[in-house]
Amino acid sequence: MPRIHVMVVVGARPQFVKCAPLIKEILVRRREMDLSIVHSGQHYDSEMSEVFFRELMIPKPSLNLHAGSGSHAAQTATIMKRLEAPMLKLEPDVVLVPGDTNTTLAASLTAAKIGIPVAHLEAGMRSGDTTMPEEINRRLTDHCSAILLAPTKTAVRNLKKEGLGKATRLTGDTMVETLRAVMPVVQRRERDILAGLGLQADNYALVTLHRPSNVDNLSRLRKIQLALHKAAKRLRVVFPVHPRTRSRLRGLKSGATSTEGGVTYMSPQGYIETMSLLRNASCLVTDSGGMQKESFLLHVPCITLRSTTEWPETLTGKANQLLIQPEMIHAKILTTAFDHTLKNNIRRLRNPFGDGHSSERIANILEETF
Ligand code: UD1
Repeated sequence: MPRIHVMVVVGARPQFVKCAPLIKEILVRRREMDLSIVHSGQHYDSEMSEVFFRELMIPKPSLNLHAGSGSHAAQTATIMKRLEAPMLKLEPDVVLVPGDTNTTLAASLTAAKIGIPVAHLEAGMRSGDTTMPEEINRRLTDHCSAILLAPTKTAVRNLKKEGLGKATRLTGDTMVETLRAVMPVVQRRERDILAGLGLQADNYALVTLHRPSNVDNLSRLRKIQLALHKAAKRLRVVFPVHPRTRSRLRGLKSGATSTEGGVTYMSPQGYIETMSLLRNASCLVTDSGGMQKESFLLHVPCITLRSTTEWPETLTGKANQLLIQPEMIHAKILTTAFDHTLKNNIRRLRNPFGDGHSSERIANILEETF
């Protein structure tokens, strides 16, 4: 059998999480496959990048393009310009791009224009909200990909509606595998992680925010922050702060961790720390796509500060509740965190994200196709 060269292009935090099981599947079980890992450099702080490679045991990228931050156009264009020559030189049989970041779009456009087939991991997600940069990235990436690796049945339906059914394969979600793989480590370390922050299990809300719609509008961000502080009068709030958000939040002391009025602000956390904090939280408040799924899988009720979600399955049984009015946030946190009936019901929900064998399926699809 001829060897297959798979180039995986990643660049931002959630992409490391999505690709980790597939990278391991290829390296450990597929001797007939060659793998190159390219990092765009979109995320470059060690707490946004290196820590994930270390904790998820992903080998260091063979190439880092150091594209860094910038406007959407500048960042996407820089990645494209720096990626073209290595793609031409390495001539992979397929370029695999996960998720919906600027790195995803840049890599898929670059490959498609050279004539290298693109495989899109997590294809078919749609929030319907084109003001989100990710929605544009997803749609364009799907439409220039040769293989669409859809995590859910909803994703398959979305792709069929857009005439992309022929290229679509239902694989399940690789994040299920990533989460399962780290669970023993999480269980070993969570007690110390909570104790280090003076937290008790099921007695705090975890918060993550980084969407431009929440954090770039300073008056909205201020209202959200006030709501968190109001909730913190009755329930501890733990808030690992994304760098985009940190630069905009009021009154944050510099340094890694500070607690103000019951809200603990900390630097962005690694995957194991985040999953430990999530698994033991009374509820999650977020605008992240991946965290909506992870909270569903860990049976932790989620409040998503957005008007839409690309993960509608998580809304089943109010496991995830969409909310945009800042003035309702504090009451929603308290009612959700103390709602034991809701928590019991969430525990019984069926997992729509697959059986944890997606990376094996994806590697098979790549083998059959190339
Ligand atoms: C990006 C993705 C988003 C994903 C998120 C995960 C796009 C359009 N957005 O958003 O889909 O959910 O990553 O975190 O691709 N910064 C640092 N250090 C870093 C990285 C970023 O300080 O290592 C700061 C810079 O000021 C930068 C800002 O954060 O301008 C935003 O980073 P960027 O990668 O542009 O977007 P994210 O908000 O992280």
